[in-house]
Amino acid sequence: MSKEMEMIRDMANCVRQRLGEADTAVVLGSGLGSYAETLEDAEWLSYREIPGMPNPTAPGHEGGRWWRGRKGGRYVYMLQGRVHCYEGYSMADVIRYVRAMKLLGVRHLLLTNAAGCVNTAWQPGDLMLITDEINFSGVNPLRGENLDELGPRFPDMSCVCDPGMRRACEDAAAAIGLGLRQGVYMYFMGPSYETPAEIRMARILGADAVGMSTVPEMIAARHSGMAVLGISCMTNMAAGILDQPLSHTEVQEAAARVQTSFRALLDGTIAGLRD
Ligand code: HPA
Repeated sequence: MSKEMEMIRDMANCVRQRLGEADTAVVLGSGLGSYAETLEDAEWLSYREIPGMPNPTAPGHEGGRWWRGRKGGRYVYMLQGRVHCYEGYSMADVIRYVRAMKLLGVRHLLLTNAAGCVNTAWQPGDLMLITDEINFSGVNPLRGENLDELGPRFPDMSCVCDPGMRRACEDAAAAIGLGLRQGVYMYFMGPSYETPAEIRMARILGADAVGMSTVPEMIAARHSGMAVLGISCMTNMAAGILDQPLSHTEVQEAAARVQTSFRALLDGTIAGLRD
């Protein structure tokens, strides 16, 4: 077995022993972490206790916790705090938990994030279902030896967003009267925000939102055959659209303001998952 596969197994074994398995997982983006507190019968493990789990350093992600609890009659994991490549972690570090989740029985992965809004018809506070993605980092997280136990060397990416999960999310939005946006998420590695020229380029290339996460995890999830859905919270208009600088404080505050609709959308989506 490869060294990486051993690390993935060690991580999965630790979580299985300490928390048990789950069939659904939610990864909480910047400013969205408090959703984990809505789990019933919740237990958590600090990332520090989990072998192979890197520690988040970005403000709003510190003190990472891997939660498990019940929601809508299912066992659900929630990851509070995420790591990004811009922190200096390798892609293998960033996606290891996704692969461990595959071994833990997760079939539905919900990835959330804070994102810059490129589409000028939308506004901060809007929630966007990710219909497709552009990996603009120049690195593919699957680079290197293929882990044949998990998936093929050349995984198909023609349908990143799972149709069943997408339907559940659309139905959940309709049920609460939320005007859910849908569009393309473009991944920049960061940590600097984009320039106005990069945002104009992103728009020409077909992006509706930009951010510094999610795409590596989505590729890893598709590689191992997990159904995945991404939801972006538009926390700010992307660089150059408004005559003001961008800040991480603005991003976190804007994410906190949409808590209520974000929670209702996720609750409804999880309740609507089939199988
Ligand atoms: N750019 C990249 N990542 C982000 C942004 C942005 O404008 N807002 C929140 N995350």
